[in-house]
Amino acid sequence: MSTATAQSHPNIAFIKYWGNRDNTLRLPMNGSISMNLDGLYTRTTVSFQPSLPFDELIINGHEIAGAGRDRVSYILDIVRGMANIHERAEVMSENNFPSGAGIASSASAFAALALAGSKAAGLNLSDQELSRLARRGSGSASRSIPGGYVEWQVGTSDEDSFAFSIAEPNHWNLVDCIAIVSTSHKKTGSTEGHSIAGTSPLQAARVADAPRRLEICRDAILNRDFNTFASILELDSDMMHAVMMTSTPALHYWKLASLEVMNCVRQWRSEGIQVCYTVDAGANVHVICHQTEVLSINKRLREIRGVEDLLLAHVGGPAKIVENGD
Ligand code: DP6
Repeated sequence: MSTATAQSHPNIAFIKYWGNRDNTLRLPMNGSISMNLDGLYTRTTVSFQPSLPFDELIINGHEIAGAGRDRVSYILDIVRGMANIHERAEVMSENNFPSGAGIASSASAFAALALAGSKAAGLNLSDQELSRLARRGSGSASRSIPGGYVEWQVGTSDEDSFAFSIAEPNHWNLVDCIAIVSTSHKKTGSTEGHSIAGTSPLQAARVADAPRRLEICRDAILNRDFNTFASILELDSDMMHAVMMTSTPALHYWKLASLEVMNCVRQWRSEGIQVCYTVDAGANVHVICHQTEVLSINKRLREIRGVEDLLLAHVGGPAKIVENGD
């Protein structure tokens, strides 16, 4: 088998990954928890071909060279080493979500690449091995290999820093209503952000407290306890942004409209609506609610000035192979 196609979802972190203890292996400073975003996906075909002089990368029909391709080759080199093959590969990848929408595509991209690349190379990796491989490309990609609600354990080394499901998608019908407030490309990406996280005097406290937040979040998901879940989500997101804002150089991702959405969400919750927010390394606000609240939350979000668009995602399944060829 020299060709394989895989599909995987991006994910939204409830307890955030921010900062590495090893930037090359992408070993995180703290564990994290997320849910996969159904309906949004990356589909990637990897095809090893003896005639190719180097790896080729095509994303949404455009050929990519430079650092983007090098990052893909880095993962393919690991795969080639494991499978003991030498052919270069053509990698064709497509996202069904707009790249300017501020939904991190690296998570779904590297999860799909790890699965398609290893399959095309003739390997049958376990979920743990796939999650570790995806992690080397993008930390959050480790969490897009398993399905549903997922925890990436911090681990002690490359061998045990992988993600696993803590609950199936149908365990709890949460929905991520993504309030798009900016489609402009962010100036500082996650990789650079991780590398300066340690310059913030707040990072040590954030990391030291992470096991407590992980336990509260995990238990809240398992018990479907929305109020506890909401408090820990917002605390964790705010703590990460406090670290970002106080690192050198300082990273300010929020826009006025992001703050407006966060304020409204807190207000709605004080009125008894089960809703909360979390924000990644960008301006868009992920508003999380139960499926039963989606219509009303959507209507409210659309009324906020500065909200340009909304994307909705239910809880998604694992990365999967969608097609095999020769
Ligand atoms: C804020 O996984 O995108 O979304 O490993 O450098 O690709 P790289 O970083 P990435 O970082 C994600 C940061 C975050 C929080 C999270 O998803 O946990």
